[in-house]
Amino acid sequence: RVEKQTKDSVTFSWSFGRYQLRVWHSPFRLEILCEQEVMCTFMELNNQGTECTLNFILRATCCAPSGPSSIGADLCLHGFRHVYGLPQHADNLQLRDTRDGEPYRLYNLDVFAYPLYSRLGLYGSVPLMVAHKPDRTLGVFWLNASETFINIQYSDHQTLFYCSLNGVHSNFSPSMLRYQALPPLFALGYHQCRWNYIDEADVKSVDAGFDRHSIPYDVIWLDIEHTDGKRYFTWDPVHFPEPAKLQQHLEKKNRKLVIISDPHIKVDPSWSLYCEARDRGHFVKDREGQIFKGSCWPGESSYLDFSSSATRAWYSRCFGLDKYKGSTPSLFVWNDMNEPSVFSGPELTMPKDAVHCGAWEHRDLHNLYGFYQHMATVEGLITRSGGLERPFVLSRSFFAGSQRLGAVWTGDNVANWEYLKISVPMVLSLSLAGIAFCGADVGGFIQDPEPELLVRWYQAAALQPFFRGHSANVTNRREPWLFGDEVTAAIRTVIHQRYSLLPYWYTLFHQAHTSALPPLRLVLLNFPSFYVGGALLACPVTEPGIQEIKVLLPGSDEIWYDIHSALVYKGGRTLSLPVTLDTVSLDDNFTIPARWLGSLQISRKFPNCNLLSPQGTADGELYLDDGHSFRYRDRKVFCLRRFSMLSGRLLCRPASEEGTFDCNTVIQSVTILGVKSKPSAVIVHASGKEIWH
Ligand SMILES: *[C@@H]1O[C@H](CO)[C@@H](O)[C@H](O)[C@H]1NC(C)=O
Ligand SMILES: *[C@@H]1O[C@H](CO)[C@@H](O)[C@H](O)[C@H]1NC(C)=O
Repeated sequence: RVEKQTKDSVTFSWSFGRYQLRVWHSPFRLEILCEQEVMCTFMELNNQGTECTLNFILRATCCAPSGPSSIGADLCLHGFRHVYGLPQHADNLQLRDTRDGEPYRLYNLDVFAYPLYSRLGLYGSVPLMVAHKPDRTLGVFWLNASETFINIQYSDHQTLFYCSLNGVHSNFSPSMLRYQALPPLFALGYHQCRWNYIDEADVKSVDAGFDRHSIPYDVIWLDIEHTDGKRYFTWDPVHFPEPAKLQQHLEKKNRKLVIISDPHIKVDPSWSLYCEARDRGHFVKDREGQIFKGSCWPGESSYLDFSSSATRAWYSRCFGLDKYKGSTPSLFVWNDMNEPSVFSGPELTMPKDAVHCGAWEHRDLHNLYGFYQHMATVEGLITRSGGLERPFVLSRSFFAGSQRLGAVWTGDNVANWEYLKISVPMVLSLSLAGIAFCGADVGGFIQDPEPELLVRWYQAAALQPFFRGHSANVTNRREPWLFGDEVTAAIRTVIHQRYSLLPYWYTLFHQAHTSALPPLRLVLLNFPSFYVGGALLACPVTEPGIQEIKVLLPGSDEIWYDIHSALVYKGGRTLSLPVTLDTVSLDDNFTIPARWLGSLQISRKFPNCNLLSPQGTADGELYLDDGHSFRYRDRKVFCLRRFSMLSGRLLCRPASEEGTFDCNTVIQSVTILGVKSKPSAVIVHASGKEIWH
């Protein structure tokens, strides 16, 4: 409502006057206030340094057909000294002052072995910046899918955020920025990928290897070579003659197959899928109005125009079980090369003057191209199941809102320690920007990791949401059991620990789904530590030859437990923990804060249950459902339990009135930490089977 009007300004307010927007007429500027304090001022471009008595301007230049155009603004953030976000960059978590070099660029590009500590654009973009100071956090979301440059200047009295953009537009609205999709449970397990598992026998032998070495995993992946000549939706007739049988073989063990499906379509007039797309006008055009052609894996290719809803609907139908021969309901999908990657194009992507449906130029929606393919694929999998089953689709390219579709990863990284180290700020930055289901290729995609690096990478990645081992075609084979017993044992331990924490991960994803809080959270000023949910503090080892790791435990009044030894530590101090290769991550690198009631572990595979209590109080949630369908949403078939510990009494009760899921879960053991003296009695209250004393 309009709160105040003077001859110079109008003030609007909301939330009972807590927040205000003040618009000044001359010079024109916008101020955002919280509790009467100015947080942020929008002002004229190129006015940085003059302390916020500035304007907001919009510049646009046009030439035929629509030509380059730009829009820009300066933004002054008052009193903020730390800004984060704007993924994807292979850089520090905190955004740096750009006066010493290039601005941050948001322009989705395929960059093989991307350079580190760079502000160059990578595979995906989220134009969301988050500023933080002790009592406030502020987000700036710039909803524009064109190439974007951001300059940042820190100064003594303010942080000035200068943003200039080139290009235009999409029909994307903030209401689309809803919460993280709830993934099927299997997607939170371990994924094994390689470019390429050669044939069906190879896939079966890798699958059997996991069983032989008692290493759990849920999904095996096939890269481009599984197709007939890089024609997606087909199978190589020699190496994959019976793909449905292969999927049934895996499905018997409850395992899934993921195959790659890229946005480029081989120009091949003898291939019906190509002809259909061409004849129905589903390809992007060049500026002369001809179908755009560029080169990619299959050679000469055309690119589907996913910005068109008709193209998306057509593409979705290609995943139908009747249409996609050799596919079964246990096949899921991976969208790669969707920046889009065009080997013959400028910067390996599509020319900006290529033309999409509605006469939009590519420059206007470049950063949304991959998002739209991801959307079409997700729709395809949902439709395939008659709307019953949750999809799983991984995409390399993304935009704000991609979290509603599925998972993303950090692209073509390299097998060295620096890339392991950078994976942490990269996934944290994605999490902060709402893309919660993310990870980096374990071991590094390019080149061969030394065994110590491989183990450390498994340990770090087991604590990140999307957990996949992947490697390029020219690397040595890298299945976990190929490096000797010590390495196999270390990797086995960490994958087991991932599985024993699966109920915790699943509950965190349910929280992300309902409240948008990401599973990975920052421990400010305490890199490389991060929180996994509210309970776990993780500090991965990202350097070779380490014998000891120092971890700063946050919060001087917090109590922390070592997850393995149950040793108690007070927060606000730095711990030195010994590190060896075989006493891996969860033992050495983690503690659990007492305020959460525990890694309640009721796993499919490793049933046990730890409830952790500090000074007698603790609190936590557990979410369960069938793990794969939409029945949790459509018919409320889920179970959300709240556990609370108070005055020596542990209570387990429904945290939601709605859920009707009978999970048949048996709690096998309960571990309570932090008890000062030996209990004189332990009473289990049987009625309703819900209370323990
Ligand atoms: C994106 O920026 C361009 C100017 O470069 C502007 O014309 C367009 O309206 C912007 N798009 C949106 C959705 O604001
Ligand atoms: C890996 O793939 C690239 C691209 O298709 C190809 O040029 C190269 O020969 C392949 N190498 C091997 C060892 O398969």
